[in-house]
Amino acid sequence: MSSIWENKQTISGHIASPIDLPRHVAIIMDGNGRWALKKGLPRTEGHKAGVEKIRMISKVLGEAGVKFVTIYAFSTENWSRPKSEVLGIMGILEEVIETETERLHQNGVRIIHLGRSDRLAKKLRTSVNHAQELTKHNQSMTLCIAFDYGGRAEILRAIKQIMADGISRKEIGETLLNKYLYTHNIPDPDLIIRTGGEKRLSNFLLWQSAYSELYFTPVHWPDLEPKQIIEALNEFASRRRRFGSLEKDF
Ligand code: FPP
Repeated sequence: MSSIWENKQTISGHIASPIDLPRHVAIIMDGNGRWALKKGLPRTEGHKAGVEKIRMISKVLGEAGVKFVTIYAFSTENWSRPKSEVLGIMGILEEVIETETERLHQNGVRIIHLGRSDRLAKKLRTSVNHAQELTKHNQSMTLCIAFDYGGRAEILRAIKQIMADGISRKEIGETLLNKYLYTHNIPDPDLIIRTGGEKRLSNFLLWQSAYSELYFTPVHWPDLEPKQIIEALNEFASRRRRFGSLEKDF
């Protein structure tokens, strides 16, 4: 059994069975800006600290056996932030892709970008494409990076492409629409974790989150510790998912 499951008893004092493990955990990593302001630092420093946390939390989830992890790194709405912050986040992503891709590849991680790539700087777009191409056959874990991503924009894009492909009305169903989303071939998230205290989805995976379990923590993303992730996994394991039906003993 992987180390996180051996260690988790000492971390949380409560064990979730790996059988109840979410296959796909999606994360809204909120609170970077507030974390930085609290420390008297520029907001971009919060995002830099946030990257360290991505590294650590994806390792914890991978060791726990989670096969798909999605992080919400930049939304279609985040373009309206001050230019310096937008450039800061772009710069961080570019640096991270350049420095981390090889290590992730060695660890068998497949990298997938969810979102628009046409508005990214050419160099960033090239690095993202290279990372996806290099890692496309990896199987230990899939790391989806939602960047210039918005759930509504994703659904509209799918509808437009379906129309452009001349698909007839009777062929359109959930399975077909799924194929036109950025997440085609990625299972829907079982668990969505949002840090930073807000309790909303903020245009994240709107179609895919129909039956996701939601977990909110007030902790700012850069302050998140493995034990809080384990708590989220344990809480997930304790929930009953009915997908709209009744339980058998009802
Ligand atoms: C939310 O905190 C965080 C973001 C919008 C950006 C996160 C981006 C990164 C960590 C860097 C790039 C990503 C990758 C994948 C390497 P916030 O700024 O909304 O915080 P606040 O709510 O406290 O203001």
